[in-house]
Amino acid sequence: MLTFKRAEKLSKKAAQIFLPVIDGKAVAPELAKLFQLNFEDELAFFAPSDKPLKAGEIFEIPVSAEGYKCERLAFVSLGKASASELRQAGAAVGRKLRGKSDDVYLHLDLKKDETKSFLVSANLGNFTWNLKSDAKTFTSNIEVRNGEIEVLKSAQLVSDAVNRARQLIHTPSNIKNPEWIARQAKKYANGAKVEIKSGTALKEFGGLRAVGGSSPKPGPRFIKMTYVPRKSGAKHIVIVGKGITYDTGGISLKRPYDIMIPMKSDMAGAAACLAVMSALKDMKANVKVTALLMCAENSISSTSQRPGDVITHYGGKTVEVLNTDAEGRLVLADGLAYAVKNLKPDYLIDIATLTGSATLGLGKQYAALYSRNLKWIKELRTAGDISGDRVWHMPLIDDYESALESDIADINHTADKGDFNAGSVTAALFLEQFVNGVNWAHLDIAGVGRAEADSGENPKGGTGWGVRLLLEWIGTFK
Ligand code: BES
Ligand code: MN
Ligand code: ZN
Repeated sequence: MLTFKRAEKLSKKAAQIFLPVIDGKAVAPELAKLFQLNFEDELAFFAPSDKPLKAGEIFEIPVSAEGYKCERLAFVSLGKASASELRQAGAAVGRKLRGKSDDVYLHLDLKKDETKSFLVSANLGNFTWNLKSDAKTFTSNIEVRNGEIEVLKSAQLVSDAVNRARQLIHTPSNIKNPEWIARQAKKYANGAKVEIKSGTALKEFGGLRAVGGSSPKPGPRFIKMTYVPRKSGAKHIVIVGKGITYDTGGISLKRPYDIMIPMKSDMAGAAACLAVMSALKDMKANVKVTALLMCAENSISSTSQRPGDVITHYGGKTVEVLNTDAEGRLVLADGLAYAVKNLKPDYLIDIATLTGSATLGLGKQYAALYSRNLKWIKELRTAGDISGDRVWHMPLIDDYESALESDIADINHTADKGDFNAGSVTAALFLEQFVNGVNWAHLDIAGVGRAEADSGENPKGGTGWGVRLLLEWIGTFK
């Protein structure tokens, strides 16, 4: 990991220097003087190609000065310093420091929000995770020139939270069952209240039980985390996370079987909620936040639910289960109904690796956002663009609602009557049946929740998507 500290000038013990190049220029008179260099010449003669450096490109030159430990100076290109270029450059610095425990000097001269983006991405790019028997941990200390303490703290807080979510997502499913997640929730609650329901206490949670009953040891968990701000009369946000600790598809087994391998990531929504909660106290959030982590394993066993079953959700709605691989919406439905009945949310938002269709529609850079509240959508889009967790507003198409019809229950849950072929949309319409008019938004993160390659900010595997978005948006409540 990386830790950030403020520095006025280069310390003698720094082993490495990073110097940004913006639009082909590097400006740091004090460094130029100390090392007796002309950066313009260095860039003109030694840059790896004649073309302008792309954001995130790094090249190093040897330096030395009496009494200073540093032997190399790394130019890091910020391109033209757009928001995404800043993130690419930050990530490249973080990547370069993977596997190192160095003292590093970062010569930044950026605005506050730019500094924050750069540093958050650096700590994200630095993330690695494995269970190798000889695994070591590494921490590099970054001294940031003129970095304002508040900005450094905030970047640390946010990036540590994202990396915490990633650790949970990376953990394999033989280790992380629902009970394990409940333990993590307690471990990282950071002052938030944690309440856990299991066994008979889940009597009313028909969706959670139907899915989680497939893996009765230890069975499903409903994990409620509550953060109360000092401010009185604060608004109440409820976030509901899909926490499927492994998704085999159940009796409607996933095929081809290869697509099952990444399904330890199917609790990425719950991981994001947990990580958000862990950061609220330190960021002094001015809003009440309750997280509901809906945790279950979707396994195949003699206690699995069957295609054709009818279940009763929290609040009494009956649902005909047609495909046991559409399990996410079943556990979320209980969470949403619980929130509506018990928590009086001003904002109700769920986050879930819900449908392959979301990825087909938007790829792996934007999450699908559904809501009927246009003002809130705009806020989330802005928070997404600022934080890097970007969202795209998708439609809740009323004409497709007939897809939910069932002959024997209130609704069917695969929502595929009538062949509308819009799996992410109809899944959102299913969830909307449980929100009873409450101000609600749904984030389908099936595409963004996991990266298939180790590149940029993301390691291969869980990305921790949603933590930056939600913390950014929560931070707008004053
Ligand atoms: N967890 C999956 C969705 C998913 C797929 C997430 C790929 C990440 C990557 C979800 O439970 C699922 O299986 N959804 C089905 C729904 C269908 C059976 C209606 C899907 O999207 O195919
Ligand atoms: Mn599934
Ligand atoms: Zn799933």
